[in-house]
Amino acid sequence: MADKKAQLIIEGAAPVELPILTGTVGPDVIDVRSLTATGRFTFDPGFMSTASCESKITYIDGDQGILLHRGYPIEQLAEQSDYLETCYLLLNGELPTAEEKARFVSTIKNHTMVHEQLKTFFNGFRRDAHPMAIMCGVVGALSAFYHDSLDIKNPHHREVSAMRLVAKMPTLAAMTYKYSMGQPMMYPRNDLNYAENFLHMMFNTPCEIKPISPVLAKAMDKIFILHADHEQNASTSTVRLAGSSGANPFACIAAGIAALWGPAHGGANEAVLAMLDEIGDVSNIDAFIAKAKDKDDPFKLMGFGHRVYKNRDPRATVMKQTCDEVLKELGITDDPQLELAMRLEEIALTDPYFIERSLYPNVDFYSGIILKAIGIPTSMFTVIFALARTVGWISHWKEMLSSPYKIGRPRQLYTGYPQRDLKK
Ligand code: SDX
Repeated sequence: MADKKAQLIIEGAAPVELPILTGTVGPDVIDVRSLTATGRFTFDPGFMSTASCESKITYIDGDQGILLHRGYPIEQLAEQSDYLETCYLLLNGELPTAEEKARFVSTIKNHTMVHEQLKTFFNGFRRDAHPMAIMCGVVGALSAFYHDSLDIKNPHHREVSAMRLVAKMPTLAAMTYKYSMGQPMMYPRNDLNYAENFLHMMFNTPCEIKPISPVLAKAMDKIFILHADHEQNASTSTVRLAGSSGANPFACIAAGIAALWGPAHGGANEAVLAMLDEIGDVSNIDAFIAKAKDKDDPFKLMGFGHRVYKNRDPRATVMKQTCDEVLKELGITDDPQLELAMRLEEIALTDPYFIERSLYPNVDFYSGIILKAIGIPTSMFTVIFALARTVGWISHWKEMLSSPYKIGRPRQLYTGYPQRDLKK
């Protein structure tokens, strides 16, 4: 992996040779681990030029707009696979055989219920608490119930925790919604598939069990696939950092949920709908694009831009197709927010500011319109992102713990006071 070398010439010091490591695809990396011997650190706020780890799970080519999960393009997984099969792939590295898939699906089904006492945690929240605040709390609280699978050095415990988290996130997410509605929480059903079960727990009540639309369930499953993993993004890096201290998996996933909540990250899907509401009408688009371009205005066009993609986000393309399918299936022919979103995309993508900065719609731009059409309230959008991303987070957590690792502990460039004496 390291047959090439970089040479660092530091004035007045001997040149430093740094190995260059080559992956299977994508950019080489310069291994700077030996740099500390020179008494210097690299400096890279926001990790714009930093590879934090080696991974085999997901590959992104931002220039080509390519996203691969264990080598398979996201477009093919969205079209031909389903979410639980994609979960198996992310967790285990290969697609399951029919028998492996049946066993995996059965295992997940048999872990979808949560401890009855977990319901009491919800009562401490106001009914109008943001669902992501509740999810941070109740997911972290899972570690109080599963003492039998918290030994992170034990591969079996890691496996059990991964299954429990993938299985229970839809149940907890739906419980969060029901709590906000003041409706009874619905138990999961083993006769439904993963996405159907989630929609059942969200929208059915003890008074009436309506059949789940297969089209909406398929759209939900596709949305889960499109959000499943995305390399070393902010929330995944948070989970890896928390995991590197030896924290239990439930605490690590709770940390990932907290990081995802931010509007610059997973909170953007909720922010897109709020932005479209604020724009209100096509006639206001130019004013908002001007705000987005104004350096003195903190407003950014939500759902646009990406740290890695400098081409179209492949997930946004699939999401837009799914959006058209769902709205057509629901007979929604003139969704004003979709019209507005499409017009906004058209205008933004002809504007030099966005073209020069390669700002394209990202995964969050269209997802909210589909979720709203399915009947999911805006405040639940990021919860659904967290539900779907849990398998990515836990796959990276497992990958890190499965080989030698060190606690993540970055250093800094200190620009504060040098030592001074306290003279009272
Ligand atoms: C996700 O990392 C992942 O993989 C994340 C994710 C995943 O699956 O985990 O893909 C999910 O988080 C998608 C992104 C969702 N966020 C949004 O839609 C919020 C709006 N987007 C921006 O906040 C921004 O584009 C980021 C945060 C996504 C990326 O920010 P970067 O990489 O730090 O880029 P930047 O802020 O340095 O922007 C470069 C330039 C700047 O202008 P200049 O200083 O060069 O003049 O582009 C401008 C920015 O001001 N810019 C925008 C903009 N995004 C960037 N200007 C207006 N509107 C925007 N949306």
